[in-house]
Amino acid sequence: MKKTLVSPSILSADFVNMERDVKKLAEWGADYVHCDVMDGVYVKNITFGMPMIAAIKKISPLPLDVHLMITEPERYVEAFADAGADIITFHPDASRDPSKTLDLIKGKGVKCGIVINPDVRLDDYIGLLRKCDVLLVMSVYAGLGGQKFIPETLETVKKGREYIDANSLSVIVEIDGGVGASNAALCKEAGVDMIVAGSAVYKADDPEEVIRILRS
Ligand code: DX5
Ligand code: ZN
Repeated sequence: MKKTLVSPSILSADFVNMERDVKKLAEWGADYVHCDVMDGVYVKNITFGMPMIAAIKKISPLPLDVHLMITEPERYVEAFADAGADIITFHPDASRDPSKTLDLIKGKGVKCGIVINPDVRLDDYIGLLRKCDVLLVMSVYAGLGGQKFIPETLETVKKGREYIDANSLSVIVEIDGGVGASNAALCKEAGVDMIVAGSAVYKADDPEEVIRILRS
């Protein structure tokens, strides 16, 4: 069977020891470093911005999967690309012109994608998948780590997968929020190619084993 990609979220890392915790991800067998950028406007929390991405890029052996939870992402996507993002995803409901925002990211030679919150209809944005490399489905409401997985969001995964396959698009389906060893199989069955996991990895006794389970 096809291996699932794993992108652990550094939101659950120890911020005092960020370098150590980013480097560990490669040792544990992860594929990407998931970086959650929150602006205190689109979501309540504030995390970090371009300087942190640039700092992580300098020391990370793995590519950076940058999830922007910010309003009007079009104002910042090029700066995040310059900071070293390898994938940039944003919430289309936060953008004035999501199609143009995708073009801006692509223009920088960076992989791009849209993120669908549980209360957002994929149908409203589905045509954008033709421009995307990634469809990120939120399985919790964006804004906080450590929340409980919402199983109904797998319907969005299935719908995205069907559209991607029916149109022969090469778009990766990523899932984010409350995913761990116990529900990873459900996600894969629904059509997920890439799993984000924050607390399930960083709070585990044996993170390497958790990543192995998520991948297999
Ligand atoms: C939530 C973030 C997630 C979060 C995942 O807004 O987008 O990436 O860090 O954390 P867990 O896996 O703990 O739900
Ligand atoms: Zn995220």
